[in-house]
Amino acid sequence: MYRDNTCGALRASDINSAVTLSGWVHKVRDKGFVVWVDLRDRYGLTQLVFDQDRTSSELLDKAKVLGRESVIRIKGEIIERASKNPNIPTGDIEVLVKELEILNDSLLPPFTIEDDTDGGEDIRMKYRYLDIRRNPVKDNLIFRHKVTMEVRKHLSDKGFIEVETPYLIKSTPEGARDFVVPSRMNEGQFYALPQSPQTFKQLLMVGGMDKYFQIVKCFRDEDLRADRQPEFTQIDCEMAFVEQEDILNAFEGLTKHLLKEIKGIDVEDFPRITYDEAMKRFGNDKPDVRFGMEFGELNAVAQHKDFNVFNSAELVVGIAVPGGASYTRKEIDKLIDWVKRPQVGAKGMVYVKCNEDGTYKSSVDKFYDQEDLAKWAEATNAKAGDLICVLSGTINETRAQLSALRMELAERLGLRKPDEFAPLWVIDFPLLELDEETGTYHAMHHPFTSPKPGQLELLETEPGKVKANAYDLVLNGNEIGGGSIRIHDKEIQATMFKHLGFTPEEAKAQFGFLMDAFQYGAPPHGGIAFGLDRLVAILGGQETIRDFIAFPKNNSGRDVMIDAPATIDEEQLKELHLKLDI
Ligand code: AMO
Repeated sequence: MYRDNTCGALRASDINSAVTLSGWVHKVRDKGFVVWVDLRDRYGLTQLVFDQDRTSSELLDKAKVLGRESVIRIKGEIIERASKNPNIPTGDIEVLVKELEILNDSLLPPFTIEDDTDGGEDIRMKYRYLDIRRNPVKDNLIFRHKVTMEVRKHLSDKGFIEVETPYLIKSTPEGARDFVVPSRMNEGQFYALPQSPQTFKQLLMVGGMDKYFQIVKCFRDEDLRADRQPEFTQIDCEMAFVEQEDILNAFEGLTKHLLKEIKGIDVEDFPRITYDEAMKRFGNDKPDVRFGMEFGELNAVAQHKDFNVFNSAELVVGIAVPGGASYTRKEIDKLIDWVKRPQVGAKGMVYVKCNEDGTYKSSVDKFYDQEDLAKWAEATNAKAGDLICVLSGTINETRAQLSALRMELAERLGLRKPDEFAPLWVIDFPLLELDEETGTYHAMHHPFTSPKPGQLELLETEPGKVKANAYDLVLNGNEIGGGSIRIHDKEIQATMFKHLGFTPEEAKAQFGFLMDAFQYGAPPHGGIAFGLDRLVAILGGQETIRDFIAFPKNNSGRDVMIDAPATIDEEQLKELHLKLDI
């Protein structure tokens, strides 16, 4: 037997019992006549004690040379600790070791296995299996497991059936590039890995599985960020015989269940705002509503004076930064530099200090008097002591820039509190999005999303204005889920494909199977997919999903531990009928 207890289990009530433990040597403290060893496993730390009087000098010598991270098994007696450690659950006891066996040696790890390790990100990724021994990473994986179990439990209780769908498929259009897999048996042909199980879950609805879910890997070849991985996990869901209201209620229910079970938090019914409203009030379709700093549009009060920058702008918009009136000139200059960084892209920033005495001091005093500035304060909801930051330019760019500034300032001011949760639905997304480079429209969500009732006709005349039965679930400024009510009519789907620039032949080649299926009694249906990695990270109070994935890729899409992607040998290329041209 390797162990009859774990390293996190023993308490004062176990004193005088015999115990067998196995684990990793966390730390050795050699005081000459006595040696203490911290033994670690997934469950915690237990202090072992060796001394020549109570055990044997032979054992003591063996303990002195134990290397960090070697794997050992010990048998001993649980005794009361002379100096207790209130910081760990096993801190009242220690184990007086009677037998010690080294099960496996360890090389010296390249970084310390401590909560605050000395290892940088790169080295920890390369030795991820050692990183997983550290509490922060281990705890995140256990946390992920808990969330996943609660999701399965809740959905299963509500009558959803988990069905697996294939990974070797044909392209699913979710807006990213596909990862492709060459077929050995079909020369010159490729599978695509699913960007999501979208078409399959719709086929399951045609198949009558009216409540489906799947915790499933998805693959997208896109630029990576803190909240994006090339392979990530969705909680993918679909229901038949539903309207948008049914989906929102069902998955608000799931989210509330998770907040309650995982965080112990009861939240009110989720606010719903339209896409247009989100853009107007926050400049962003995934607003963080844990704090205010809402946009105040200033066109009416700031244009038609002598300030040409504003007069020529499509949008003049500001936010009030709480307490910002006390910023020094230098601090404000730094803020202006920040918005002018290429990543943000503003040309400049106008500011107004709302002094405590009710007066205003702005960077454009030459053009605006106190009365004008009071109107700006009213529009941005600025109080005495605040700083109003104003940007101008085209609508879309200016909103994006001011939204970036709003988020940055909220972060700096500590307003993005990780233990506060503010979910909301953003609804009524546009159906189509204009690609400014090519001048063509593509589906904002995906091509299977239905337009809002009565809007089909608008497709011909003003495609950019058509709204969709599409919704996102937003939590603390992150899009954690998105979905839509689908088109279930073959003709409407064909019209959509036409508007997305597919010829009937192309549409048939790529999605003929779905259009065919729609001819056999497709029920009205709709669904949603949550990004599990994002959901888990945010519930865990963080935003970097990598920290909640056991073996993530780095920012270049590489797994540095197994060194993938990698070249393959000539023979394998030949078998796959591939010829490299690099
Ligand atoms: P969508 O493309 O919005 O919808 O994806 C759903 C959710 O998946 C998460 N997500 C990601 N998470 C990590 N890394 C990525 N690269 C990544 N890409 C997306 C987000 C997102 O909200 N088939 C539709 C769903 C539907 O219509 O039912 C779909 O995939 O949290």
